[in-house]
Amino acid sequence: MNIVTVIGARPQIIKAAALSRAIRTSYQKQIHETIVHTGQHYDENMSQVFFDELGIPKPDYNLQVGSASHGVQTAKMTEGIERILLEERPDCLVLYGDTNSTLAGAVAAAKIHVPIVHIEAGLRSFNKSMPEEINRIVCDHCSTLLFSPTQAGVDNLAKEGFRLNNEGPYSIDNPKVFLCGDIMYDNSLYFSKIAEEKTDVLQRLQLLGKPFVLATLHRDSNTDHPERLNSILDALLEIAEEMPVVLPLHPRTRKMIGQLVEPQKAEKLFHSENLRTTDPVSFLEMVQLERHASLVMTDSGGVQKESYFFQKPCVILRPETEWVEIVQAGTGTLTDADKTSILEASRGYLRQPPTNFPEIFGDGHAAEFMLQQMIQCFNS
Ligand code: UD1
Ligand code: UDP
Repeated sequence: MNIVTVIGARPQIIKAAALSRAIRTSYQKQIHETIVHTGQHYDENMSQVFFDELGIPKPDYNLQVGSASHGVQTAKMTEGIERILLEERPDCLVLYGDTNSTLAGAVAAAKIHVPIVHIEAGLRSFNKSMPEEINRIVCDHCSTLLFSPTQAGVDNLAKEGFRLNNEGPYSIDNPKVFLCGDIMYDNSLYFSKIAEEKTDVLQRLQLLGKPFVLATLHRDSNTDHPERLNSILDALLEIAEEMPVVLPLHPRTRKMIGQLVEPQKAEKLFHSENLRTTDPVSFLEMVQLERHASLVMTDSGGVQKESYFFQKPCVILRPETEWVEIVQAGTGTLTDADKTSILEASRGYLRQPPTNFPEIFGDGHAAEFMLQQMIQCFNS
């Protein structure tokens, strides 16, 4: 079976590591994977570092699309992916998550009748002002196999008309939904010990044996709005007076701090002893930070989940989340960008950390399950 995988943004590169690893270890003879990197993320620390560290094969194609408006970026990617699909004629196209790279892959493949496998299907924020919500809805509705990590994802798809007990053969008009656990959990389990052995990020940040908070911030709804960005940063600066805060900065956030934050505060953000602002860290470093943090504060989808995998409380810097189970379990709190709510939730979790993290993200073997289903469906 020939599959083409499209990746482009940081979290997709990381997720793809789990599937490529499972192909290498268990399905080398049955599956040939061709990797297409759209080039949506291109900085060394947003892309190449993950290939080096996680053993992902070098992409067979790199479209080098780079940054642009949604329309321009998606159009360039669609054109490039279509060309590759016509050349490669794969049995299916594998897409991850909800970025513009996902959307471009879905539109390109559906129109030329290449079946789509969507990994991380069914997630909804019910907030269509998010570009990701548009991307994931379009991709789900163009897909043949939909792998949902959570029961909430399966329920969302059922409400949108997907049948859950249908028989094969499966196609874009008779798609199959699977509940299969989270592929990111596969990675977190696999790399957790390796991270402990191979990284020195705690020593480098002088955090060995010390409690600290880990924060990430990159959603356009937070970074591109001065009031929201400043409110979140003010909360981080205040927490940093009580406990060190590590903030690996997404390039988008660094750029917007330069534009929307007054120079005196920016100076404090970049040069305060207790707010350790860094460039994006590698995945192994991130895992190590997540494992040892007392609290995670984030607007990232992936980091919300990883905080749960490592049993850390999470302050979610958004008004809603696709990962509703984390909030239902009481280990995550939605604070949006409201400084008072962020401080209240953070201090509450630091005072009394949650201890009950029910198993909601599968068993860490999602990739193998997905590959088995793909072989069954597409191996002709
Ligand atoms: C994208 C995804 C988002 C995902 C995130 C993961 C879309 C619509 N959004 O958001 O769902 O959560 O990736 O990180 O696809 N930039 C650099 N260097 C890079 C990459 C980006 O400097 O290597 C800067 C550029 O100024 C760019 C900005 O970051 O304009 C935003 O990048 P973009 O890929 O458009 O969106 P993200 O915010 O990264
Ligand atoms: N991540 C990383 N280095 C960082 C920040 C995040 O390796 O400096 C990893 C993180 O561990 C997770 C993924 O990137 O696996 C999440 O990606 P991101 O937050 O960019 O996007 P989202 O998940 O919100 O789409």
